[in-house]
Amino acid sequence: MDRPVLFGRKTDDHRMSYLQRFIKKYNRSILHILLEDWLGWLTRSLPAPLGFILRWMVYRALFKQMGSFCWIYPNVYLTHTYGIEVGKTFGINSGAVMDGRGGIKIGDDVMIGPNVVIASSNHDYQQHALPMARVDHVMAPVQIGNDVWIGANAVITPGVTIGDGVVVGAGAVVTKDVDAYCIVGGVPAKVIGHRQAGVQPSVMEMG
Ligand SMILES: CC(C)(COP(=O)(O)OP(=O)(O)OC[C@H]1O[C@@H](n2cnc3c(N)ncnc32)[C@H](O)[C@@H]1OP(=O)(O)O)[C@@H](O)C(=O)NCCC(=O)NCCS
Repeated sequence: MDRPVLFGRKTDDHRMSYLQRFIKKYNRSILHILLEDWLGWLTRSLPAPLGFILRWMVYRALFKQMGSFCWIYPNVYLTHTYGIEVGKTFGINSGAVMDGRGGIKIGDDVMIGPNVVIASSNHDYQQHALPMARVDHVMAPVQIGNDVWIGANAVITPGVTIGDGVVVGAGAVVTKDVDAYCIVGGVPAKVIGHRQAGVQPSVMEMG
């Protein structure tokens, strides 16, 4: 099979080197990505409360939209942040990864558990002509409503819409849209329950 050269000099799309393709693809966002890499590295592991405040300031500047102060725990990895929008009172726990390349839009009062992964693009795997690492990403935006809780280690795959009030159970892999107030779990995620209206909440007691 006639495989393309990986580091060829020609500028034909199929024969560009990784670096050439990277620069072509990220021409407009390359500065943003460099900035988020450095600022992320500088603030990622800082302890509270200074860490929370500095990460909030950094990502308020980098995100497409941020509704209010948000709780970004240490060691969260956020990339292509120009495509990430979050509402008010957003929280994301340690080890979580969000890649906003294809667009991630999150409502108010959303909690993202430890090690959650939210991806908004796929590699274009529906062809054999080139290695998947050498072709464009297929963008697929993710939307998450208000008052959503995503449990630890869940994965939200590209293109999924999650309705208001949804609970995503720990370890779920969400591959399809989820209706409002559903509780989903498993791989692939299925509805395992519904949040009931009219149940009195247990309010946090301080002190
Ligand atoms: C989804 C969740 C909220 C449900 O809690 P719950 O209402 O107490 O549910 P139960 O434990 O009574 O389980 C109800 C059913 O759902 C199943 N289930 C619960 N959590 C599940 C999950 N994450 N994935 C798949 N199935 C799950 C149970 O096995 C049970 O099934 P069964 O009726 O066939 O026995 C909870 O299990 C969960 O995953 N919480 C996330 C915790 C977390 O990640 N915290 C990190 C800090 S943010």
